Amino acid sequence: MPVLHIDVGHITARVSPLHAGLMTEEINHAYDGGLYAELVANRAFLEQPVPPSQLPPHWSVVSTGAATAGLAVDLGYIFTPELLMSLRLETRDATESRRAGIANDGFWGIPVRPATTYHASFFARISGDHGGPLTLSIESPDGATIYALADIMLRPGTWHRYEADLITAAGLKPTAQARFVISTVKPGTFWFSLVSLFPPTWKDRANGNRPDLMQKLADLHPAFLRFPGGNYLEGDSVSERFDWKKTLGDLRTRPGHMGPWGYRSSDGLGLLEFFHWCEDLNMEPVLGVFAGLTLKSGYIKPGPDLQPYVQDALDEIEYVTGDVTTTWGARRARDGHPAPFRLTYVEIGNEDWKDGWEYDGRFAQFYDAIKARYPSLQLIATHPVTSRTPDVLDDHYYRHAAEFYADVHHYDRTDRKGPKIFVGEWATMEGSPTPTLNAALGDAAWMTAMERNSDLIIMQAYAPLLVNVNPKAAQWPTNLIGYDALTSYGSPSYHAQKVFNAHRGDVVVAATPDVAPGLFTSVTRATRTGALYLKVVNSLGVPRTVRIEIAGTKSVASAGQQTVLTGQPSDVNSLPEPEKIIPTETNLTGLSQTFDHTFPAYSITVLQLQTQG
Ligand code: AHR
Repeated sequence: MPVLHIDVGHITARVSPLHAGLMTEEINHAYDGGLYAELVANRAFLEQPVPPSQLPPHWSVVSTGAATAGLAVDLGYIFTPELLMSLRLETRDATESRRAGIANDGFWGIPVRPATTYHASFFARISGDHGGPLTLSIESPDGATIYALADIMLRPGTWHRYEADLITAAGLKPTAQARFVISTVKPGTFWFSLVSLFPPTWKDRANGNRPDLMQKLADLHPAFLRFPGGNYLEGDSVSERFDWKKTLGDLRTRPGHMGPWGYRSSDGLGLLEFFHWCEDLNMEPVLGVFAGLTLKSGYIKPGPDLQPYVQDALDEIEYVTGDVTTTWGARRARDGHPAPFRLTYVEIGNEDWKDGWEYDGRFAQFYDAIKARYPSLQLIATHPVTSRTPDVLDDHYYRHAAEFYADVHHYDRTDRKGPKIFVGEWATMEGSPTPTLNAALGDAAWMTAMERNSDLIIMQAYAPLLVNVNPKAAQWPTNLIGYDALTSYGSPSYHAQKVFNAHRGDVVVAATPDVAPGLFTSVTRATRTGALYLKVVNSLGVPRTVRIEIAGTKSVASAGQQTVLTGQPSDVNSLPEPEKIIPTETNLTGLSQTFDHTFPAYSITVLQLQTQG
């Protein structure tokens, strides 16, 4: 029988308090159509109109009987310098029984829930004095079922802002088969911009986040958030990078931008909202700053050409950390957050991997400027450099389970005198749009390896984090949390992380490195309470009984707990079956310093034991 010998008295590493966190970017409609709770797609009409109708994407005409509605994206009345376009609506032959108007189909539907208040707002101007209300409704796609209604009287003259609450009835069946409609029963000409509909948000934040997704993230107990990317930081070209200054303040002044994943971002979730997100989940921000590399338009050479971007990063750090007497700290205060945010880690770029991209020179230029002004900031390099010594190095791994199994000793012998390691993106790429159980086994094996080395690997995060599972929404095959407009689920890998993060001590203790082929282990202990956490991944299709011997402690309590995630390798969770693979918890009895335990086939197990002395 294989033996797992544990020596509680022999501490091999101190677990980094930031060890497990989140990596995020706008991919797979992670924000627009995902975490960012806005329900109206293309709310500012900046997406390219679709030929041959030239209608703006996500918008359509609503008309009853002989009433007609003419729609066009229009520059007739500039809304703001950033949001130039508006939607012109001309209604004809509309009467009390024949409405005409516009409909938005949302991000693959508008989620309708019972007894829920939706906050609608928009800017509009009318030609002349229309004299009648506009009706806002959340309704079925054919208009036959109205879920919520509100009327708004328009004022003549220039652009005005309008808002109303739409409240659904108690007892209705939740659905995402719905649209948002603005209609009238009178002829008229209208212009609209920034048409918005928000459901309740996490912590009731205005312009906030979707509660079910925030709850799933909170349940992971993440210690940090890496943002805003990933490729999304870089953009295909310099003008399509994450240009943080354009993501601040009033939504009327945020133009949004084309992201690298094939769709436009509203930037409603902008720089300040990333920091709100960190505050809401008590996460350490890990701020990525644009370092001159783009995905399709090359890079900016170190030297004078790069200097404006170095200054931009200094401004960004001042926006985050400066007090209100600084230029950018004052701007943050005007944006509603006078108190500076905490910031320790700044990452210079993303995946600057190729020698020809002059990362060494670019990193040095950022490093010198940032360290001169903010000496205590810890700077993360995305690729090894020799010009300066980075505080932390960001390694990325996208692999199959077998590759992770083969590489679990990757960091065991890494020199502890060099930079700390941030495994800023990792995932077992098996399963689409979310991982299979087999992928979760690969992930868990890799997590045991990272945890055993969590003195060195101060932070690690799975990527990508979020996917709207509508086939038109997703770009990346394997992602941690799936959702549509209405509901969401955690993949087996999500549950593996949740279980790992809920059971981690502050020190790693010595344990047999390779207990048996196909078994992967890590053991940590909570110094204060004496709780011992044994993580064992059985990647094989047969149960494995292991003798567990615990030395270095006076006693092991006879009662303990086990948490197990198991199933068939191809099993997945999904919207129809969100909890096919979830952990089970059971109490254990009869434990002592030596006991035998059977780990099921294809399983991830955490044993929680109580040691004394
Ligand atoms: O996580 C998806 C992408 O993979 C990230 O944007 C990029 O950093 C990596 O190549």
